[in-house]
This record gives sequence, C-alpha cells and structure tokens, in this order.
Amino acid sequence: MKAITVEPRKPGSARYEDIPEPDVHEGSVLVEAVAVGVCGTDVEIVEGKYGWSPPGKTRLVLGHESLGRVIDPGPSSSLKKGDLVVGIVRRPDPVPCPNCAVGEWDMCRNGQYTERGIKEIHGYMSERWRIEPEYVMKIDPSLGLLGVLLEPTTVVTKAWEQVVAVGSRAFWEPRTLLVTGAGPIGLLAALVGKQHGLEVHVLDRVESGLKPELVRELGAIYHSGSVRDIGFEPEVIVECTGVGQVIADSIQTVGAGGVVCLTGVGSGGRSGNIPTADTAANIVLRNNVIVGSVNANKRHWYKAAEALGRADRKWLGRLITRREQPENFKQALERQPDDIKVVIQFSAA
Ligand code: BGC
Repeated sequence: MKAITVEPRKPGSARYEDIPEPDVHEGSVLVEAVAVGVCGTDVEIVEGKYGWSPPGKTRLVLGHESLGRVIDPGPSSSLKKGDLVVGIVRRPDPVPCPNCAVGEWDMCRNGQYTERGIKEIHGYMSERWRIEPEYVMKIDPSLGLLGVLLEPTTVVTKAWEQVVAVGSRAFWEPRTLLVTGAGPIGLLAALVGKQHGLEVHVLDRVESGLKPELVRELGAIYHSGSVRDIGFEPEVIVECTGVGQVIADSIQTVGAGGVVCLTGVGSGGRSGNIPTADTAANIVLRNNVIVGSVNANKRHWYKAAEALGRADRKWLGRLITRREQPENFKQALERQPDDIKVVIQFSAA
C-alpha cells in the first residue's frame, strides 16, 4: 500500500512510497484512510526538526489528524464495518508514570509516551491503518470529512479544561476570551469559547480575507495588529501562535486573576525584550497564571466530538481550505497565504 513517510531529523526525506500492509500487532481494527489533516507539527517533522521513528526503524509514517472508515472491526463489538472513525494520537508511557497510569497520557510526566505519526509509532498517512479498539473514536457519520477536524478540536478542548481548572482556584466567572492566531487551532479555540458563552476576540496578523470573515460569522470580534492594542484586559488568553512577541504581549495584557494558556509550539531566540522581574512582579501582584497545554486524553476526545457535533457544519467546512491527493503531499505541506486547514484526502468521505 501507499504511504507518506519520512526519516525524522533528516530534512527533505519525506516521500510517497509503497510500504507493507499494517501489521496486525498494531491493532485489531483495520481502517481505510479517508483523510489526514496537515499541521505545523507535520511541517516541522518534514523539515527535520522534530519526530522519532519506531524503535529499530529508520522511517516513520507521518500523520496524526486522522479520519477513516472501518474495513474490519475485528473482535471488537462496538464497531461496525463502514463506521467513520478517528484515531487517538498519544499512547501512555510503559512505566507508567502516575498520570499515564490513570489514563491522563496527555499529562505524561516522564516523556516516554509515544504518539502516532510523531513519536515512535506510525501515523495515519497510509491507505490503510490498524488501531487498538480502545483508541478509536467513532464519529457522527453526518460530519463526513469534517471529522478530520476532531484531533485539533481535542487540543483546544483540553486547553479550555486547563483554563477552567486553573480559574477554579478562586471565584471566577470569566466573560472575555482573547485567542491569538486565527489558524485552525485559534479558530477552533474561538468556537469552544463561544460554545461556553464567552465574549470571544480573535487576533491575527491578517487584515482581511477568510480569517476575519470566519471570526465574525462565529459572532466573535476580530482584531489585527498587536495584543497590546486590543483596548481591554482579557480574563483568558488562549495563545495559539507560538510567536515570542505575541506570548510576551499576552502575558503583559491579561487581566488580574487571568489565565494565559499557551498552546503554540514555537522556537527560536529571544524576542520581546521582556523585563523578567517586572513581568514576574506583575504576575504575582495580579495572581495571574500562565499554563501550557499539549495533547488530549480520552475525556477531551469525547468532549471535542460533542463540540464538533454542535458546531455549524457550514462554518466548519470553510476551515478546510484545500484538499490534496496523497501524491501531492509536498504541496499540502507548503503553506499558502489563504490556507487554514489543508487535508490530504485518500478516499471519498
Ligand atoms: C499534536 C499533539 C501532540 C503535539 C506534540 C501536536 O501537533 O496535535 O497531539 O501531542 O503535537 O507532539
């Protein structure tokens, strides 16, 4: 079968090639790929900056934002042939650490977790893949191709849960949410904020086009420019850019008692010239919290599926701005100015 594979840490090594059918040890459920979303992490892996191949192997099958159709449910009773499913990304570490031991693999403490398409387990960018029944999420069939948005929705669902957990340390009924970045994660964070009844603001670099339109259609307020100029102090900021200056500005702009949740994974040198002690003093004197959030556990996958199910399908559909054939994966990985979510489509939804 065909798959998109890469040699992690080797830039330019990605290719569309023939590989053996998935091994039965990878799981008793056999799935035909429908589509796989492309995200910044995939781009980083292909650029040789991130990623790990399975032990003893040189290459890794890419892809963690899956959507597929069950070909063979195996002995599992809850799945049927033809079900639309999405595969969970992370697996607990083998030790396991206390968090993995209780199913909170997203909070793994020893870093020995594995992730499909990212860290030591093959991903979902192959014509067929296998999965363990306990890591399959069956989705509402009426979502069709939109099911490919489930994985990024799990990431923002967990982030929101973190914000609420931190906020609950004191009396707190937040009304305003600022989301920085209007990519897929930012827009889905805005969706979740709206679903929780907040006044949602979204900030991005672009001044016009689809991003501001989608924000306004959601009933949220669009800003372009600097976080410092938004004109109010948000109670919650969900940071989805990973850009140093935006992070620094967010930390300095959040209101007293507020929470800044970082979801963007950036890299690179110093930026923003942050006066560390002054910034820390401000955080102390205003009881602010900066919390990082990565990945998602089964509870978040369940909640995210509910959130997607409640969302306006037309709005969700506009997030998918490009579909590419697997053989054109290189185009899929190249960012174009109007891209929001690009998906590689293996078969009809
Ligand atoms: C994925 C997460 C993963 C993280 C770190 C993100 O792109 O959505 O599931 O935990 O990368 O590898």
